[in-house]
Amino acid sequence: LMRVGVLASGGGTNLQALIDGAGSDYEIVLVASDKKDARALQRARSAGITAQVIADPRDGPAMVSQLDAHGLDLVVLAGYLKLVPTEVVARFADKIVNIHPALLPSFGGKGMYGSRVHEAVIEAGVALSGVTVHLVDEKFDRGQILAQWPVPVLSGDSAAALQRRVLEVEHEILPEVVRQAARHGRPVVLRPSLGSFAPADTTVLDFERC
Ligand code: GRF
Repeated sequence: LMRVGVLASGGGTNLQALIDGAGSDYEIVLVASDKKDARALQRARSAGITAQVIADPRDGPAMVSQLDAHGLDLVVLAGYLKLVPTEVVARFADKIVNIHPALLPSFGGKGMYGSRVHEAVIEAGVALSGVTVHLVDEKFDRGQILAQWPVPVLSGDSAAALQRRVLEVEHEILPEVVRQAARHGRPVVLRPSLGSFAPADTTVLDFERC
């Protein structure tokens, strides 16, 4: 069983998807947040998972010891908004993954999080947004891409509506990336074939509505 630690700053719906998908391939042994009131911490506690606050998210050595206390094989950033200190990136080289609610390298980087991403996508007038899962290095949203899946931008979309549509796909992709990482012993690149990420009942590939 791969031992997974999840860092989250907010609502934790991706964390919830990971919790729901845990079992035969991986287990979540730690959830840590830079925000003591993060809903993600409550979700962890409700699931019986150790939930901790990161006292100072810029203190790399302290964060390394905090994470190391749990024997983690993989660290997942699920809506974690702070830059990961270099010491942590070095300690968990190629073992930290992040999920981003757009198709990187577009619509990523510093300040591009939450509804701002979806506002920028709509503003740009692109027909497709999507989900990216990638390895984490010292820069925001720049590491190797592990998995991507498209989500159509519909005419008249609000940022909130697009965000909801993208989130549905996030909840499928992230557990799949972690499952495959567990099966291979390390994060692997997933080459999606049509349908492999798309749950049967979503509108992800329903281009007629565009
Ligand atoms: C998601 O859109 C994720 O891609 C981004 O932050 C959001 C977190 O949502 N990095 P949640 O906390 O998992 O609900």
